[in-house]
Amino acid sequence: MQEKIQSLLQQLTLEEKAALCSGKDNWTSKPIDRLGIPAIFMCDGPHGLRREQADGFGHSMPATCFPTASALGASWNVDLLYKIGETLGKEAQAQGVQLLLGPGINMKRSPLGGRNFEYYSEDPILSGELAAAFVNGIQSQGVGATLKHFTANNQEFERMNNNSILDERALQEIYLPAFEIAVKKAQPWSIMCAYNQINGVYASEHKELLHHILKEKWGFEGFVISDWGAVHDRVEGIKAGLHFEMPGNGGINDKRIIAAVQNGALKEARLDEIVADLLTVFLKANDYKQTNPIFNKEAHHQIALQTAQECITLLKNEQNCLPLNINQKIAVIGQFAKKPRFQGGGSSQVNPTQVECALDHLQTLFPNDQIQYADGYPLDDAVDETIINQAQRIATDADVALLFVGLPDHYESEGFDRTHIDIPKNHAVLIRQIAAVQKNVVVILTNGSAVRMPWAHHAKAIVESWLLGQAGGQAIADLLVGKYSPSGKLAETFPTKISDNPSFLSFGGEHGKVYYGEGIFSGYRYYEKKQIPPQFPFGHGLSYTTFEYSNLQIDKPEFSDQDQIEVSIDITNTGKMDAKEVVQLYIKDAISTVIRPEKELKAFQKIDLAVGETKNITFSLDYRAFAYYNTNLHTWTAEKGEFQLLIGRSSQDIRQSSTIHLTETNHPLPQLNRYSTIKEYAAHPKGEAHVRPIMEQMMAIFLAGTDHSDAENAHKAESFFKAIVADLPLYKLETFTLGAVDEKKIEEIIEKTNA
Ligand code: BGC
Repeated sequence: MQEKIQSLLQQLTLEEKAALCSGKDNWTSKPIDRLGIPAIFMCDGPHGLRREQADGFGHSMPATCFPTASALGASWNVDLLYKIGETLGKEAQAQGVQLLLGPGINMKRSPLGGRNFEYYSEDPILSGELAAAFVNGIQSQGVGATLKHFTANNQEFERMNNNSILDERALQEIYLPAFEIAVKKAQPWSIMCAYNQINGVYASEHKELLHHILKEKWGFEGFVISDWGAVHDRVEGIKAGLHFEMPGNGGINDKRIIAAVQNGALKEARLDEIVADLLTVFLKANDYKQTNPIFNKEAHHQIALQTAQECITLLKNEQNCLPLNINQKIAVIGQFAKKPRFQGGGSSQVNPTQVECALDHLQTLFPNDQIQYADGYPLDDAVDETIINQAQRIATDADVALLFVGLPDHYESEGFDRTHIDIPKNHAVLIRQIAAVQKNVVVILTNGSAVRMPWAHHAKAIVESWLLGQAGGQAIADLLVGKYSPSGKLAETFPTKISDNPSFLSFGGEHGKVYYGEGIFSGYRYYEKKQIPPQFPFGHGLSYTTFEYSNLQIDKPEFSDQDQIEVSIDITNTGKMDAKEVVQLYIKDAISTVIRPEKELKAFQKIDLAVGETKNITFSLDYRAFAYYNTNLHTWTAEKGEFQLLIGRSSQDIRQSSTIHLTETNHPLPQLNRYSTIKEYAAHPKGEAHVRPIMEQMMAIFLAGTDHSDAENAHKAESFFKAIVADLPLYKLETFTLGAVDEKKIEEIIEKTNA
């Protein structure tokens, strides 16, 4: 292949090379017929294909509509994500698509993010693992996947220009790892750079991100594609590592590339590197095209159904109100039961092959006329007493009221952010009014991202059904009657109010800048550290059965940075129903000199357990799982000492824990200088010997005048001076020791420490 590409590069004219770097139109690359270079066809999206037939939404070819990413995130099931990817790959082949523009894996910085429904989680490990499986699934069918939107693209407000300003640790620990995991584990054919700037540089020309990190550090072999219209300075983009501009630029930027090469601003050799990467994927895509592919609509609908079942998250279930008993009389209330909102708006919108609603399925599950239906609310935001009264009448008559409420389309979409996290007033009023006449209220929520629930105490059960895709209606009905047990777990924290969210003070930003002031404390990392109880915590989700966690084993109580650690645990289904469980492993650095979250998710597994069954599962961890991003060394390091391994059903329901000790780290020692503090020298294996005696001498001098007969005073003085000495920058020794430690000695300490 490389030989072929080199030969093509020699034959391509400068104009042709420039032409290869952008699209012909909205969805295709440009072919070079005389050299047999094919065009590739690409389309959205991450939850089902949106292969346009004519301009505008809703005109795409029918395709299976899967649950959106926020629902998929709640499945915590990597095998399932692979399966969906594989299914999308098959549909892509059938519709002549070589590159799929998904998955979206940005972090959910705030529930207000308009596109949160398109993203998996607030946690980078969960997002990265799910994305890797999804990409592997798509690419198993000879179709490329596109990770998007790289990176720190966490709001819709002023999305084309906004400058996301974040510190190095936040970037490395929160906003990069999902991409890193997916690149390393799945090698996506493409990555889409975001619209926004990151620390003042447009993502489309961010050399540090596109070249040094993505290509050099992570070994990315595909090409970088611009988000649609994300190009700022095309020539800078080529230099930085942006291979492909979309949509087509009508030749404007192609001409700029040609001019830059001609006037020497851009080396042709650099353009060649970019074109070579593009050709690698274009040729591969063409080789993998299947002849006469077809897809089985019904089979894919069944996969959408299985997927929906794994996403639904049971948030609350007092007195085992669910599952329902088919002898009960049921009041189904709320238009979402009949006209489901099953996907989000914008570029990921699918034209589904069919759509199911919960009401129809409930009617088939309950005999006779046990199901009564009422609209509950009008589709605008008005509170309509007549409609509520009708609903109250059927609720009074029933044993249980099922309330289908949530966010209508115009509450969340690509393109704009939410301004609050409430459900519409007429939905909230309905919940209260029904609870006044019926004690068994089950709320079934439809929404792409967290909502506030000041009405939660009115509901005995709360079912989070997300945006469940085309088969969601059946999945909900089957869950309500207990045909299967719920197994979804929150992939994002649900706060009690939006002002509790860590990004609340800066979300959206001003004058084109948004400061990520919360740093690494995003999502549960923040709520836990600040001890702010959320409405429902990260990882939470109930089951119809019960599980026992036991026998946590770690293969080595002590480890070094070279070791692989095996952790195993037994999980038993102790209840009365076969069910799936998501086992979550968190790590806490017990004692740390750096600022770290209370604990962080590092591994998880979803397992299937029959009644009474026990499974032993194992997790494999390496040094990185214990590390933080060290901004002195610009690498991942962990401090020696004790760590806790915490395994549980959610971030707040830890069932088993154990400790493990890190004994050795061979990360490079920091380079210290004149401004480094005495305590940094004292903590440095080569520096300690040089500063320890000086510290002691200084303490002796400082404490010389202290009245030691007054023990309390002496103790106070000692603590005070110890702190003063520890924090002295090295060069200050000269004046603080009145010249006893002179410049020469200071230079010597620096040299010997860094030697
Ligand atoms: C979105 C991308 C999408 C592209 C093509 C952009 O506006 O941000 O996610 O893939 O359009 O539809």
